[in-house]
Amino acid sequence: MVEVRVTTRDGVESVVEGEEGLSLMEVIRDNGYDELLALCGGCCSCATCHVHVDPEFMDALPPMSDDEDDLLDSSDHRNERSRLSCQIPVTAALAGLRVQIAPED
Ligand code: FES
Repeated sequence: MVEVRVTTRDGVESVVEGEEGLSLMEVIRDNGYDELLALCGGCCSCATCHVHVDPEFMDALPPMSDDEDDLLDSSDHRNERSRLSCQIPVTAALAGLRVQIAPED
C-alpha cells in the first residue's frame, strides 16, 4: 500500500492508503472523497478528477498526454500543478504524494 496525503477543497488534509496499480482517482474516491466526482470513471473525458499536486512531486508523475492537457484547459482552476488524478497510477515511487482536490468548475 502507498501512503498519499489528500487535502479537501476546505483545506483538511488526511493520510490515505492506496493499492499500487490503482489510479490516484480510484484511491481518492475509494477513501470516501465524494467531492472528487470522477464522472467518466477514469476515461480521461470529464476533468472532474482534477487535483493540484505538491510541487515536490510533479517530476515523479508520468508525462501528461495531449488529451489530459486539452481537458485541463477547460478548467478555470488549472495551474502549473494541475493533473487529472485518473491519469496517475499509484506506485511506490509516489509514496508520500500530496495532492489537493481542485475547486469545482
Ligand atoms: S475521471 Fe474523468 S477525466 Fe479523470
